[in-house]
Amino acid sequence: MRRLDKLYLGTNTKMYKTIADTCAFLSRLEELTEDIPKEELELFVIPSYTALDAAVRTVKDSKIKIGSQNMGWEDEGQFTGEISPVMLNEIGVDLVMIGHSERRHVMGETDQEEERKAAKALGSGFTALLCIGETLEEKNYGISDEVLRTQLKIGLHSIDGAQARKLWVAYEPVWAIGVNGIPADEHYADEKHWVIKKTLCELFGDETGSDIPVLYGGSVNPGNAELLIRMPNIDGLFIGRSAWEADHFNQIIRAVMPIWKEG
Ligand code: PGA
Repeated sequence: MRRLDKLYLGTNTKMYKTIADTCAFLSRLEELTEDIPKEELELFVIPSYTALDAAVRTVKDSKIKIGSQNMGWEDEGQFTGEISPVMLNEIGVDLVMIGHSERRHVMGETDQEEERKAAKALGSGFTALLCIGETLEEKNYGISDEVLRTQLKIGLHSIDGAQARKLWVAYEPVWAIGVNGIPADEHYADEKHWVIKKTLCELFGDETGSDIPVLYGGSVNPGNAELLIRMPNIDGLFIGRSAWEADHFNQIIRAVMPIWKEG
């Protein structure tokens, strides 16, 4: 697989930061990463819905992309509690995350629902970040590859090659995420990224498939970030806890950028 021309690094702040926290975090991150060229780094932050408007205004014209943590699959309708693509467009959001592990396993979302959201997000002009990953039980049964392939084949069922150009994928094994997570070994993660990349090539052809960034997420920390980014099939890192302080996130960015550049 060829190396992509940018490194992808981002964080999802889950249900942790208020509007004020989000803006302070973004301003500091922007200041700390000012010197890094946009051509080399795709930096993104995915705050809570309530902070999105302020977040987009805080980073106006900067290199940080702002994403939403979820999105409804219709423009409008009887969907109490959902947020539509029209509303996200109005705010000026660039990116929509779909199928985060907590949406799937805490809120009970299905692959079929992720498919409707992925199609709607890409059809509405957003970059879509589809998250996939196997549970510990599935890993123990030895069916991780089958699960990942199923999540991709259903989740991207109605996406065409042109839409796939705005698709990103995050591999986040469920057992690796959050406070009780065990970080995946970099070799295991790389092997799964290869399965994902091969599946994307099967779905969209080699040219488009191999250009889709595949990021690793799940207990990324200062101790494993460098090991992960050395792996040939890992195009970036999707970080939770270890990136929620701008200074800590910047330290990880500074540690992995030179490794990625060495290629
Ligand atoms: P974590 O979160 O880095 O805190 O494990 C990752 C994620 O949920 O995307």
